[in-house]
Amino acid sequence: MSTLEIKNLHASVLPTEEGQEPTPILKGVNLTINSGETHAVMGPNGSGKSTLAYTIAGHPSYEITDGEVLLDGENILDMEVDERARAGVFLAMQYPVEVPGVSYSNFMRSAISAVRGEAPKLREWVGEFNGVRDELKIDPSFSERSVNEGFSGGEKKRHEVMQLALLKPKFAVMDETDSGLDVDALRVVSEGINRYQEQTGGGVLMITHYKRILNYVQPDFVHVFADGKIVETGGAELADQLEAEGYEKFI
Ligand SMILES: Nc1ncnc2c1ncn2[C@@H]1O[C@H](COP(=O)(O)OP(=O)(O)OP(=O)(O)O)[C@@H](O)[C@H]1O
Ligand SMILES: [Mg+2]
Repeated sequence: MSTLEIKNLHASVLPTEEGQEPTPILKGVNLTINSGETHAVMGPNGSGKSTLAYTIAGHPSYEITDGEVLLDGENILDMEVDERARAGVFLAMQYPVEVPGVSYSNFMRSAISAVRGEAPKLREWVGEFNGVRDELKIDPSFSERSVNEGFSGGEKKRHEVMQLALLKPKFAVMDETDSGLDVDALRVVSEGINRYQEQTGGGVLMITHYKRILNYVQPDFVHVFADGKIVETGGAELADQLEAEGYEKFI
Protein backbone atom coordinates (compact mmCIF):
# COMPACT_ATOMS: atom_id res chain seq x y z
CA MET A 1 0.00 0.00 0.00
CA SER A 2 1.49 3.32 -1.14
CA THR A 3 0.38 6.94 -0.96
CA LEU A 4 1.11 9.92 -3.16
CA GLU A 5 0.37 13.15 -1.29
CA ILE A 6 0.40 16.49 -3.05
CA LYS A 7 0.46 19.20 -0.40
CA ASN A 8 -0.06 22.92 -0.98
CA LEU A 9 1.85 22.70 -4.26
CA HIS A 10 2.77 26.02 -5.86
CA ALA A 11 4.74 26.11 -9.09
CA SER A 12 5.72 28.66 -11.72
CA VAL A 13 6.72 28.19 -15.32
CA LEU A 14 10.19 29.57 -15.99
CA PRO A 15 10.49 32.27 -18.65
CA THR A 16 11.84 31.29 -22.03
CA GLU A 17 13.51 34.68 -22.49
CA GLU A 18 16.03 36.44 -20.27
CA GLY A 19 14.87 39.27 -18.07
CA GLN A 20 11.33 37.94 -17.64
CA GLU A 21 9.79 36.70 -14.42
CA PRO A 22 8.46 33.16 -13.80
CA THR A 23 4.67 32.88 -14.20
CA PRO A 24 2.80 31.30 -11.28
CA ILE A 25 0.57 28.46 -12.51
CA LEU A 26 -0.08 26.08 -9.60
CA LYS A 27 -1.60 27.90 -6.66
CA GLY A 28 -1.96 25.43 -3.82
CA VAL A 29 -2.81 21.94 -5.06
CA ASN A 30 -3.83 19.42 -2.40
CA LEU A 31 -4.53 15.83 -3.42
CA THR A 32 -3.89 12.43 -1.86
CA ILE A 33 -3.95 9.26 -3.96
CA ASN A 34 -3.75 5.81 -2.41
CA SER A 35 -2.80 2.58 -4.17
CA GLY A 36 -5.67 1.18 -6.18
CA GLU A 37 -7.54 4.48 -6.42
CA THR A 38 -8.42 6.30 -9.61
CA HIS A 39 -8.70 10.08 -9.47
CA ALA A 40 -9.98 12.02 -12.45
CA VAL A 41 -8.95 15.66 -12.84
CA MET A 42 -11.09 17.76 -15.15
CA GLY A 43 -10.77 21.46 -15.82
CA PRO A 44 -10.67 24.23 -18.40
CA ASN A 45 -7.85 24.69 -20.94
CA GLY A 46 -4.89 26.50 -19.44
CA SER A 47 -5.90 25.88 -15.82
CA GLY A 48 -2.60 24.09 -15.06
CA LYS A 49 -3.42 20.36 -15.31
CA SER A 50 -0.39 19.52 -17.47
CA THR A 51 1.74 21.77 -15.29
CA LEU A 52 0.70 19.61 -12.33
CA ALA A 53 1.62 16.46 -14.25
CA TYR A 54 5.00 17.87 -15.35
CA THR A 55 5.78 19.17 -11.88
CA ILE A 56 5.19 15.75 -10.33
CA ALA A 57 7.39 14.13 -12.98
CA GLY A 58 10.15 16.75 -12.66
CA HIS A 59 10.09 18.74 -15.90
CA PRO A 60 12.90 21.33 -15.83
CA SER A 61 10.72 24.21 -17.14
CA TYR A 62 8.97 24.60 -13.80
CA GLU A 63 10.06 25.98 -10.47
CA ILE A 64 8.44 24.82 -7.23
CA THR A 65 7.74 27.82 -5.04
CA ASP A 66 5.96 26.07 -2.17
CA GLY A 67 4.59 22.73 -1.02
CA GLU A 68 5.65 19.13 -1.45
CA VAL A 69 4.81 15.85 -3.18
CA LEU A 70 5.30 12.90 -0.86
CA LEU A 71 5.62 9.32 -2.08
CA ASP A 72 5.19 7.20 1.03
CA GLY A 73 6.37 10.15 3.10
CA GLU A 74 9.40 11.03 0.99
CA ASN A 75 9.43 14.32 -0.92
CA ILE A 76 9.97 13.40 -4.56
CA LEU A 77 10.48 17.06 -5.48
CA ASP A 78 14.00 16.66 -4.04
CA MET A 79 14.70 13.82 -6.49
CA GLU A 80 16.02 13.91 -10.05
CA VAL A 81 13.61 12.90 -12.82
CA ASP A 82 15.10 9.41 -13.19
CA GLU A 83 15.00 8.86 -9.42
CA ARG A 84 11.30 9.69 -9.40
CA ALA A 85 10.71 7.15 -12.16
CA ARG A 86 12.66 4.51 -10.24
CA ALA A 87 10.71 5.36 -7.09
CA GLY A 88 7.56 4.42 -9.01
CA VAL A 89 6.08 7.57 -10.51
CA PHE A 90 5.09 7.52 -14.17
CA LEU A 91 3.84 10.22 -16.53
CA ALA A 92 1.98 9.57 -19.77
CA MET A 93 2.42 12.87 -21.59
CA GLN A 94 -0.33 14.87 -23.26
CA TYR A 95 2.04 15.42 -26.19
CA PRO A 96 4.47 12.47 -26.27
CA VAL A 97 7.94 13.44 -27.46
CA GLU A 98 9.47 12.08 -30.66
CA VAL A 99 12.94 10.54 -30.30
CA PRO A 100 14.40 10.08 -33.79
CA GLY A 101 17.06 7.41 -34.09
CA VAL A 102 15.98 5.39 -31.02
CA SER A 103 13.87 2.34 -31.76
CA TYR A 104 10.85 1.76 -29.54
CA SER A 105 12.10 -1.69 -28.48
CA ASN A 106 15.52 -0.32 -27.47
CA PHE A 107 13.96 2.61 -25.69
CA MET A 108 11.64 0.33 -23.73
CA ARG A 109 14.40 -2.13 -22.82
CA SER A 110 16.60 0.75 -21.55
CA ALA A 111 13.73 2.15 -19.52
CA ILE A 112 12.93 -1.23 -17.98
CA SER A 113 16.60 -1.87 -17.18
CA ALA A 114 16.88 1.53 -15.49
CA VAL A 115 13.72 1.12 -13.42
CA ARG A 116 14.42 -2.49 -12.40
CA GLY A 117 18.13 -1.89 -11.80
CA GLU A 118 19.18 -4.69 -14.18
CA ALA A 119 18.56 -5.66 -17.78
CA PRO A 120 15.76 -8.20 -18.16
CA LYS A 121 16.69 -11.62 -19.55
CA LEU A 122 16.26 -11.36 -23.31
CA ARG A 123 13.91 -14.31 -23.79
CA GLU A 124 11.58 -13.31 -20.93
CA TRP A 125 11.68 -9.70 -22.04
CA VAL A 126 10.65 -10.49 -25.61
CA GLY A 127 7.68 -12.47 -24.28
CA GLU A 128 6.68 -9.68 -21.91
CA PHE A 129 7.08 -6.96 -24.55
CA ASN A 130 5.18 -8.85 -27.25
CA GLY A 131 2.43 -9.83 -24.81
CA VAL A 132 1.70 -6.24 -23.83
CA ARG A 133 2.04 -5.05 -27.42
CA ASP A 134 -0.54 -7.60 -28.56
CA GLU A 135 -2.94 -6.75 -25.72
CA LEU A 136 -2.82 -3.14 -26.87
CA LYS A 137 -3.31 -4.22 -30.48
CA ILE A 138 -0.10 -2.52 -31.61
CA ASP A 139 1.38 -3.76 -34.87
CA PRO A 140 4.82 -5.45 -34.46
CA SER A 141 6.34 -3.09 -37.05
CA PHE A 142 6.25 -0.24 -34.49
CA SER A 143 8.94 -1.92 -32.36
CA GLU A 144 11.68 -1.05 -34.83
CA ARG A 145 10.43 2.46 -35.59
CA SER A 146 11.89 5.48 -33.80
CA VAL A 147 10.03 6.42 -30.62
CA ASN A 148 6.86 8.30 -31.57
CA GLU A 149 8.39 9.57 -34.83
CA GLY A 150 5.61 9.93 -37.32
CA PHE A 151 3.17 8.06 -35.05
CA SER A 152 -0.41 9.29 -35.30
CA GLY A 153 -1.87 10.92 -32.20
CA GLY A 154 -3.71 7.75 -31.23
CA GLU A 155 -0.66 5.55 -31.87
CA LYS A 156 1.40 7.73 -29.51
CA LYS A 157 -1.24 7.37 -26.79
CA ARG A 158 -1.33 3.61 -27.19
CA HIS A 159 2.45 3.52 -26.73
CA GLU A 160 2.19 5.61 -23.56
CA VAL A 161 -0.09 2.91 -22.15
CA MET A 162 2.36 0.26 -23.34
CA GLN A 163 5.02 1.97 -21.20
CA LEU A 164 2.62 1.99 -18.27
CA ALA A 165 1.91 -1.72 -18.68
CA LEU A 166 5.60 -2.63 -18.83
CA LEU A 167 7.02 -0.24 -16.24
CA LYS A 168 4.29 -1.02 -13.66
CA PRO A 169 4.73 2.15 -11.57
CA LYS A 170 3.20 2.70 -8.14
CA PHE A 171 1.45 5.80 -9.44
CA ALA A 172 0.57 6.82 -12.97
CA VAL A 173 -0.30 10.32 -14.10
CA MET A 174 -2.16 10.03 -17.39
CA ASP A 175 -2.41 13.43 -19.12
CA GLU A 176 -5.24 13.30 -21.66
CA THR A 177 -4.39 9.76 -22.70
CA ASP A 178 -7.90 9.56 -24.17
CA SER A 179 -7.53 12.57 -26.47
CA GLY A 180 -7.63 11.76 -30.14
CA LEU A 181 -8.53 8.08 -29.74
CA ASP A 182 -11.08 6.40 -31.96
CA VAL A 183 -13.81 4.40 -30.19
CA ASP A 184 -11.98 1.06 -30.50
CA ALA A 185 -8.66 2.54 -29.36
CA LEU A 186 -10.38 4.17 -26.39
CA ARG A 187 -11.60 0.75 -25.26
CA VAL A 188 -8.22 -0.92 -25.83
CA VAL A 189 -6.36 1.84 -23.97
CA SER A 190 -8.88 1.82 -21.10
CA GLU A 191 -8.54 -1.95 -20.76
CA GLY A 192 -4.78 -1.47 -20.63
CA ILE A 193 -5.09 1.01 -17.76
CA ASN A 194 -7.53 -1.26 -15.90
CA ARG A 195 -5.25 -4.28 -16.37
CA TYR A 196 -2.31 -2.32 -14.99
CA GLN A 197 -4.36 -1.45 -11.94
CA GLU A 198 -5.63 -4.99 -11.40
CA GLN A 199 -2.14 -6.48 -11.75
CA THR A 200 -0.23 -3.95 -9.66
CA GLY A 201 -2.76 -2.21 -7.42
CA GLY A 202 -1.32 1.10 -8.66
CA GLY A 203 -2.93 4.49 -8.24
CA VAL A 204 -4.04 6.53 -11.24
CA LEU A 205 -4.38 10.28 -11.73
CA MET A 206 -6.30 10.70 -14.95
CA ILE A 207 -6.43 14.15 -16.50
CA THR A 208 -9.21 14.33 -19.05
CA HIS A 209 -11.70 16.62 -20.75
CA TYR A 210 -14.20 13.90 -21.52
CA LYS A 211 -16.47 11.72 -19.48
CA ARG A 212 -16.34 8.92 -22.06
CA ILE A 213 -13.07 7.38 -20.78
CA LEU A 214 -14.53 7.42 -17.27
CA ASN A 215 -17.19 4.97 -18.47
CA TYR A 216 -14.38 2.44 -18.93
CA VAL A 217 -11.88 3.49 -16.28
CA GLN A 218 -14.15 4.21 -13.35
CA PRO A 219 -12.97 7.00 -11.06
CA ASP A 220 -13.27 6.82 -7.28
CA PHE A 221 -12.99 10.61 -7.17
CA VAL A 222 -13.50 13.40 -9.68
CA HIS A 223 -11.77 16.73 -9.06
CA VAL A 224 -12.48 20.03 -10.75
CA PHE A 225 -9.27 21.91 -11.47
CA ALA A 226 -9.43 25.66 -12.09
CA ASP A 227 -6.89 28.48 -11.90
CA GLY A 228 -4.10 26.31 -10.55
CA LYS A 229 -5.90 24.36 -7.88
CA ILE A 230 -8.62 21.85 -7.08
CA VAL A 231 -11.84 23.72 -6.45
CA GLU A 232 -14.32 20.84 -6.07
CA THR A 233 -14.18 17.10 -5.37
CA GLY A 234 -16.91 14.53 -5.81
CA GLY A 235 -17.65 11.05 -7.09
CA ALA A 236 -18.25 9.88 -10.65
CA GLU A 237 -21.50 11.87 -10.73
CA LEU A 238 -19.47 15.10 -10.74
CA ALA A 239 -18.21 14.23 -14.24
CA ASP A 240 -21.84 13.98 -15.44
CA GLN A 241 -22.60 17.33 -13.89
CA LEU A 242 -19.56 18.94 -15.59
CA GLU A 243 -20.55 17.51 -18.94
CA ALA A 244 -24.06 18.86 -18.57
CA GLU A 245 -23.31 22.25 -17.02
CA GLY A 246 -19.67 23.13 -17.83
CA TYR A 247 -17.14 24.68 -15.49
CA GLU A 248 -18.68 28.13 -15.06
CA LYS A 249 -20.12 27.63 -11.58
CA PHE A 250 -16.75 26.37 -10.29
CA ILE A 251 -14.63 29.23 -11.62
N1 LIG B 1 6.58 29.36 -21.08
C1 LIG B 1 5.41 29.82 -20.64
N2 LIG B 1 5.23 31.15 -20.38
C2 LIG B 1 4.06 31.62 -19.93
N3 LIG B 1 2.98 30.85 -19.67
C3 LIG B 1 3.10 29.54 -19.91
C4 LIG B 1 4.31 28.94 -20.39
N4 LIG B 1 4.11 27.62 -20.50
C5 LIG B 1 2.84 27.39 -20.11
N5 LIG B 1 2.23 28.54 -19.76
C6 LIG B 1 0.84 28.73 -19.33
O1 LIG B 1 0.53 27.91 -18.24
C7 LIG B 1 -0.89 27.73 -18.19
C8 LIG B 1 -1.19 26.28 -17.82
O2 LIG B 1 -0.89 25.43 -18.91
P1 LIG B 1 -1.20 23.86 -18.84
O3 LIG B 1 -0.61 23.25 -20.06
O4 LIG B 1 -0.76 23.34 -17.52
O5 LIG B 1 -2.80 23.86 -18.93
P2 LIG B 1 -3.81 22.61 -19.03
O6 LIG B 1 -4.77 22.74 -17.90
O7 LIG B 1 -3.05 21.35 -19.14
O8 LIG B 1 -4.59 22.94 -20.39
P3 LIG B 1 -5.18 21.95 -21.53
O9 LIG B 1 -6.51 21.48 -21.02
O10 LIG B 1 -5.34 22.85 -22.71
O11 LIG B 1 -4.20 20.84 -21.76
C9 LIG B 1 -1.42 28.16 -19.55
O12 LIG B 1 -2.09 29.38 -19.41
C10 LIG B 1 -0.16 28.32 -20.39
O13 LIG B 1 -0.30 29.30 -21.38
MG1 LIG C 1 -2.83 19.94 -20.60
